[in-house]
Amino acid sequence: MNFKSSFLLLPLALIALKNNAQAQVISIETANNALVLQADDKHDVNTIYFGPKLADSKEYSHLAAAYGKDNDYTGQMASVYTPAGSRNLLEPAIAVSHADGNQSLDLKYVSHKIDKVSDDISLLTIILKDQVYNTEVTLYYKSYYKDDVIEQWSTIKNGEKGTIVLNKFASADLYLKAGSFYLTQYHGDWAKEMRPETSQITHGIKTLDSKLGTRADLFQPPVFMVSMDKPATEDEGTVLYGSIEWSGNYRTDLELDPENNLRIISGINNYASAYQLKAGESFTTPPFLSVLSRNGKGDASRKLQHWARNYKLLDGNGTRLTLLNNWESTYFDFDETKLAALLKDTKKLGVDMFLLDDGWFGNKYPRNGDHSGLGDWQETKTKLPNGISSLVKGAGDNGVKFGIWVEPEMVNPKSELYEKHPDWVIKQPKRDEYYFRNQLVLDLSNPAVQDFVFGIVDNLFTHNPALAYIKWDCNAVIYNAYSAYLKKDQSQFYVDYMHGLYNVLSRIRAKYPKVPMMLCSGGGGRVDYNALQYFTEFWPSDNTDPLERVFIQWEYSYFYPAIASSNHVTDWSKLPIKYRVDVASMGKLGFDIVISKLAQNDLQFVQDAVKNFNGFKSVVWQGDQYRLLDPRENAVASIAYVNEAKTTAIMFNYLVNYRYDEGSKEPIRLKGLDPAKQYKLKEINLYPGTNSGVDENQPYSGDFLMKIGINPHVNSGRSSVVLQVQAQ
Ligand code: DGJ
Repeated sequence: MNFKSSFLLLPLALIALKNNAQAQVISIETANNALVLQADDKHDVNTIYFGPKLADSKEYSHLAAAYGKDNDYTGQMASVYTPAGSRNLLEPAIAVSHADGNQSLDLKYVSHKIDKVSDDISLLTIILKDQVYNTEVTLYYKSYYKDDVIEQWSTIKNGEKGTIVLNKFASADLYLKAGSFYLTQYHGDWAKEMRPETSQITHGIKTLDSKLGTRADLFQPPVFMVSMDKPATEDEGTVLYGSIEWSGNYRTDLELDPENNLRIISGINNYASAYQLKAGESFTTPPFLSVLSRNGKGDASRKLQHWARNYKLLDGNGTRLTLLNNWESTYFDFDETKLAALLKDTKKLGVDMFLLDDGWFGNKYPRNGDHSGLGDWQETKTKLPNGISSLVKGAGDNGVKFGIWVEPEMVNPKSELYEKHPDWVIKQPKRDEYYFRNQLVLDLSNPAVQDFVFGIVDNLFTHNPALAYIKWDCNAVIYNAYSAYLKKDQSQFYVDYMHGLYNVLSRIRAKYPKVPMMLCSGGGGRVDYNALQYFTEFWPSDNTDPLERVFIQWEYSYFYPAIASSNHVTDWSKLPIKYRVDVASMGKLGFDIVISKLAQNDLQFVQDAVKNFNGFKSVVWQGDQYRLLDPRENAVASIAYVNEAKTTAIMFNYLVNYRYDEGSKEPIRLKGLDPAKQYKLKEINLYPGTNSGVDENQPYSGDFLMKIGINPHVNSGRSSVVLQVQAQ
């Protein structure tokens, strides 16, 4: 949009509003909800409603009257984008220092429009402007009708003659009315990801945030839920899921205001990040995502998963490659002979691809451990004299694909890269270096570093066109944040780092649009919906103990679809191989075990399980997920995936409490089936020599299975049971 012309239009728009001297109602409707905004007679734009939509949208104009005349404060509390430094005294969404040092901002309605992007998507754009300073804000609301999802973001334009500073620049400023609010937030650490906590929101501000630099998750994932009036259950209650789509430092403030309404202000974290905008420049914030359901957490998550597969996750409706990874079977200790054997094992196992992990690069400082070599992306000659290309070829000769691990944003101090380009490394010039896993982060705010990182991936594909997959790791946070490139503009660093990363990822996707890539991070925690537009899957946790994974995957599944969850079978636990494989099958199945050491029955089981997985994976990946029994409340966890036609469901059941005589004592009710259809049950993934615990000949109606249910007979002798529910 022409910047100058918008300013010329402003007086006309204000005059038009004055002449009307009446409030303008702006509504966004999705299948079940309405978000209603109002530009009032003072040209302030406020949220006046977010809830079930009305049968007649004309009646939104009665909302203000129904809620009563606003007092002086309400308008500020309900602002769609609360500015700092004028009348507002609550937490702002935007705070600006103008070119003359003045810190006040007051945003008034200029205009709005609604564009129909597709049958399902609409984009509402609202222009707001300060009447004293040439600061203009455009608010965007992209609504996805079927899934009740809204993405919101803003663009801030500096129309002044000098530089302004954005001290806060949120993406969204929501306003919710309810009797009470309950926040479900997550915390975690390495191997302990996604631990939920639910509490009633009290007055004041609750802040969720991250300052880790390279990733949003790990300690405090950006995803959260707010239940209204009472904590939502799987199938009941009003609940809003939210998340900022940003892979770096984020901040979400939940403020229960003096009138008991909830304000949610979410965006990039302004911590150490005052951002300069030169004359004529603009800044666009990342989207904030929300979905609102009145039918509980299960419904909200199915909508979000459906939305993600269709609109955000790369190739969300495509397929994925099952794989054998060598990380936990070899760590850094491998050579061509060992890898040749693993390629054969990959074929024997029946998976699609072999994934070569960390340790294949570095010559002056070979990557034989995690202290050296990171950054030197040339094959280690002593380990791989014939290079990656001979491995890719070897994989092809064995009838499998080949994927490779990289960690391109990082550098070991003991590396040629560090020696050549110390100025590319994030570190304080006058302080001691401080490491996370013996490594430092490269300065992606620097375009030369962006070229280097792009080049790592590009070279791999250029030299190995048959390369099928990238595991993109990220094992360090940013300590001692300082960019030699940014010089005096250090407060731009955290934001410019992320923009640099997104720039690299966009370039990769422009050249290699669909090649699958895993968003990985030791200790999970690098998943968010901005990154997922470039990645086909993510690594939920290094913790692959299947009992732990039942809990970790359960919580991730509220926000992310199963097709995005990379689940590897490893030797982290002594639980039976069947339990490990069954849990990993609730997503994108992979293996990281020594196939040659498997007992004959175990090998037979995994080979059969891979075949079974190929048979039902489309139901898990593209179907609707129903959480049936919560592992935090029951001795047995149960989860089912149902295909769109409701003809097939796959039901996974796990013993999660190993105390004496625990198990499934009662039938477990299924969900999402067709009550009128007749179904038969079949136990799959049976361990060789064991018998099914269910009667496979008995047909049941969907009605019966959903009202009465079926007992999968989970007990200490049958700790993991997978049932296929098939319509006749
Ligand atoms: C952390 C990842 O989570 C592991 O799977 C493995 O790739 C290592 N990094 C390699 O260093």
